Amino acid sequence: MSAPNKSYDPVEVEALKPEEIERMRDEALAAVAAAADLDALREVKAAHAGDRSPLALANREIGALPPQAKAEAGKRMGMARGAVNKAFAARQAELEAERDARVLVEEAVDVTLPYDRTPAGARHPITTLSERIEDVFVAMGYEVAEGPEVEAEWFNFDALNIAQDHPARAMQDTLFVQAPGKKAKEAESGVVLRTHTSPVQVRTMLDREPPVYVICPGRVYRMDELDATHTPVFTQVELLAIDEGLTMADLKGTIEHMVRSLFGEGLTTRLRPNYFPFTEPSAELDMQCYVCRGESAGNPDRPCRTCSSEGWIELGGCGMVNPRVLTAAGIDPEKYSGFAFGFGIERLLMFRHSVEDMRDMVEGDVRFTRPFGMEI
Ligand code: DAH
Repeated sequence: MSAPNKSYDPVEVEALKPEEIERMRDEALAAVAAAADLDALREVKAAHAGDRSPLALANREIGALPPQAKAEAGKRMGMARGAVNKAFAARQAELEAERDARVLVEEAVDVTLPYDRTPAGARHPITTLSERIEDVFVAMGYEVAEGPEVEAEWFNFDALNIAQDHPARAMQDTLFVQAPGKKAKEAESGVVLRTHTSPVQVRTMLDREPPVYVICPGRVYRMDELDATHTPVFTQVELLAIDEGLTMADLKGTIEHMVRSLFGEGLTTRLRPNYFPFTEPSAELDMQCYVCRGESAGNPDRPCRTCSSEGWIELGGCGMVNPRVLTAAGIDPEKYSGFAFGFGIERLLMFRHSVEDMRDMVEGDVRFTRPFGMEI
């Protein structure tokens, strides 16, 4: 019988010596026991049970042993690795249970705590409606223009062809910030809180070269008592288009588009003759009632609250810009014509959303604004 092949003797393969396997196993078990949390355990696992761990590397040596030695080393190694894996599983379960218990405590929601968040506000429906109207016109290529609320009397009245003795100029209708000069050498023009958004028309024409297509939303002021249908501060939207060859048909088509965008397809509008100093001809513009679609007019069987069974809802004033206004703003009335339209948003909000009292719109109570939602 030949002498045993020394190089295949398991005793001679350093890593497979029983004490060595025991040492590696104990080292692994100690590391597992010392892992304080799941992250640490993951690292320990890579170091002591991963592909490049001492036990795994030693295990690779087994294949080269003679059969008997292979069986013995395999058994020893299997037991050592089994013990290590078992310890890992046990420690893992232990640490997971600890973590779950901790999360339950740390992330617990105390539903009995007092509610301390500041209640969310809401955007005012006048703002959102005015923005919605702007959007309709911006989509048609209009620009949004603004002007000051404290306005020179000249812009508010004179440039708009409103005569010196026009009743609207009286102190009981208009809020004057500075009275007009009485002596010849004083400045003639006083300063007012603008009574309408029409002065923005003049400012815009002075500012830009035609063609001009602008929409001017803004706050206006009048000497009125606050009641269910009046407020001394309210909001208007002014529309102005100046171009070559514009006619009243363009005006009607434009407003009709706005009405349909805001109230629904198929609605019509009508013009009723009126007088405004800054437009010629001038008209009052009505839209067909979007609730009864005109069917309530003259039909006692079908009354309509929205239009008081008129079939029509009055929207605002409009007309072709008076050539005198064009001239005051430095625009040649021989070459250009324009149309204008002005209306109040509060009234629009009243019939669009069945708001019955205008005071609700100015009191700032969030219980009024909140049901309109956070429309942006
Ligand atoms: N500025 C007018 C008002 O406040 C409304 C108005 C009428 C505006 C006719 C216009 C217009 O642009 O053409 O009563």
